[in-house]
Amino acid sequence: MKKALLSALAALTLVIGGAQAAGDGEQHVTDYDFPFEGPFGRYDTMQLQRGLAIYNQVCSGCHGMEYVYFRNLTEDTGPAMPEAMIVELAKGYFVADTGLDAQPGDTRPATLSDNFPGSQVENAPDMSLLAKARAGFHGPYGTGISQLINGMGGAEYIASVLTGYTGEEKVEAGITYYENEAFPGGWIAMAPPLYGDDIEHADDAPTDLTSEAMDVAAFLMWAAEPKLNQRKAFGLTAVLFLGIFTILLFLTNRKLWYHVKHREE
Ligand code: HEC
Repeated sequence: MKKALLSALAALTLVIGGAQAAGDGEQHVTDYDFPFEGPFGRYDTMQLQRGLAIYNQVCSGCHGMEYVYFRNLTEDTGPAMPEAMIVELAKGYFVADTGLDAQPGDTRPATLSDNFPGSQVENAPDMSLLAKARAGFHGPYGTGISQLINGMGGAEYIASVLTGYTGEEKVEAGITYYENEAFPGGWIAMAPPLYGDDIEHADDAPTDLTSEAMDVAAFLMWAAEPKLNQRKAFGLTAVLFLGIFTILLFLTNRKLWYHVKHREE
């Protein structure tokens, strides 16, 4: 038993050491404050709506989001968009037509029950799960310990990539790479997609680069983990219940053993 404990401890030190070593690398991810962090964290509906607008107008030109259905965007723990607006938004996307008299390769405008199309640009990764895939911070190669300790995850990574451009470029084998402080390796093949003021929000929310990056990162976090609100609410209830249960068990235990412990010799 003792041996097992010792080796578990040793393994943990190794992992934490590894996470810190990764932190010393060149990759720099900023610890942004998102409303969905911590045990009481919840998605901010308005922020998700702004993020959706940015995704729709900018990112979807190259990236796909295959595992998200248009109807998901109307869920009230998500962007909670009015259905009529999503019906309109879906019409702007084209998906494979699988109708009876469709020819292979035919497309039609998407409807509420379709999912977002896949990536338009071959090497642009699908965005549905990226925020979760990159949560094992630092970046794709991290261990997840930093997420646990600092509450940093995929959303921070995405926002940091969007704000991490230094302005340097290089061309290698005909591909332009842009220097980026957050992307592993330091050079990314994606031209800066956001500059600030790329979009106008109906509610006059700020559109500086950092706000835009955080909004779209929050939206992509929701895409990857749409049930976060429910999960956290359930977790809190469970912890509360276990707390009360522990107290009851403790009192029961004391009462059960009272006569044994206070027996007169
Ligand atoms: C012009 C096409 C294009 C647009 C527009 C675009 N991207 Fe990209 N993006 C790419 C490509 C290509 C890559 C892969 C880069 C690489 O691997 O070097 C990429 C990579 C990324 C990565 C890094 C993924 C990883 O593997 O860790 C993130 C994050 C990202 N994009 C987010 C966004 C967001 C958010 C938007 C919208 C604000 C956006 N992108 C708009 C083409 C684009």
